[in-house]
Amino acid sequence: MRLDARGLALTTDSAAAAASFDAAIGSYLRYRLDAAKHLDAALDADPGFALAHAMRGYFAMLSYKRANVAAAVAALAQARANAGGLTLREQRHLDALEAWSAGRLWRAIGAWEAILADHPADVVALRLAHFNYFWMGEAGAMRESVLRAKPGWDTDLPGYGTVLACEAFAREECGEYRPAEAAGRAAVERDPADLWGTHAVAHVMEMEGRHADGIAWLDGLKAHWEGAAAIVHHLWWHRALYHYELGQFDAVLALYDERFRNPASPLVQAMPDLYIDIQNAAAMLWRLERAGVAVGDRWTEIADKAEARIGDTLSAFTQPHWMMALAAAGRGAAADRLIAALDEAATAPDTLAPVHATVTRPVAAAARAHRAGDWATVVDLLWPVRNELKRLGGSHAQRDIFRQMLADAAARSGRRDVLRAVLAEEALGRALPLTRRRAYAPLAAAAA
Ligand SMILES: [Fe+2]
Repeated sequence: MRLDARGLALTTDSAAAAASFDAAIGSYLRYRLDAAKHLDAALDADPGFALAHAMRGYFAMLSYKRANVAAAVAALAQARANAGGLTLREQRHLDALEAWSAGRLWRAIGAWEAILADHPADVVALRLAHFNYFWMGEAGAMRESVLRAKPGWDTDLPGYGTVLACEAFAREECGEYRPAEAAGRAAVERDPADLWGTHAVAHVMEMEGRHADGIAWLDGLKAHWEGAAAIVHHLWWHRALYHYELGQFDAVLALYDERFRNPASPLVQAMPDLYIDIQNAAAMLWRLERAGVAVGDRWTEIADKAEARIGDTLSAFTQPHWMMALAAAGRGAAADRLIAALDEAATAPDTLAPVHATVTRPVAAAARAHRAGDWATVVDLLWPVRNELKRLGGSHAQRDIFRQMLADAAARSGRRDVLRAVLAEEALGRALPLTRRRAYAPLAAAAA
């Protein structure tokens, strides 16, 4: 029995395995690329280290990629084969991995929350619950989860910065911008390479329309992003979003090509179809085209990645982004197959099935109809689900694209009733006036 960096019991007798396991968690929390390497070292030191096997399974699941579920299931089998004498906390991690790999997300979250009730400093349970709440659109539960655990932490414990970063992001998604920014800045003060804390503050600045502040914030921290995983693409995407709002489209395209969607970069080459990267790319190309900017053939490689993954429905929010790319590239047969795959996914015995049935499918179909200029269909599909968009997961800033799509189609199809309602909702939702939001300002002028 060994203790981890937070004093939690690990069922291994190997000091080297425990040290490498701590290093793997530290790298995971900091989005470093060497997390899997440290985990490999832990398992080399103790091949019977069940929790390290479970961690390997978690890493596989974090790709939200169907092809990697088999690796998670295999890791779970290894963990189960070495489950004699495990603590209840470790057993619950195995249960969580089993549920997650079977698509039973609420069951997985239940296991992580049970761990946190006994061990608030189990930062892996905290972080995995946080991310799965996030991709399920459960902002309130995400906030409550971290605020429940926080008082159980000694602020000197390694990983406390992650608690602050998760608090910051969860509060931001709940509209609590002042405490969100304070917690995010506190996380970054502890560690300027705290990318999730950096990201949370960037979201506050996006939601408050502080575009110049956002550019300066990210500019001042980018020196700390070396050696980090694909989250850096998303940070560069946020920076591009500020430039987009400022009408600096050349800067957006330059960031697209050099910073967040460069197919030749080692990070993209390592995972060319990573869900968040595809979301970043498709969402920005769509915004640019709507602003009248020519994007050349950039849709093509995104459509290639989308087409190759049709039927992989583990990430709901990615599906309509795939559809944007398939429709933009004129791939009608593939678009048909994507819709058919969502219909099939809607019948599966997992947590996302009802989401796909009621939200993912209509939103994906709307993305296709928008490209076809079938504005009335876009309104018919999106208007009834606009308050359910959160179930796709993602942030307010990310999901805004579908509200833009609805407002745009309402304007083009003469649905002034829908347009006025959506604009009114947007005006209520953010302190920033519509006249200062690039997507809505011309629509607000048209609706007046
Ligand atoms: Fe974000």
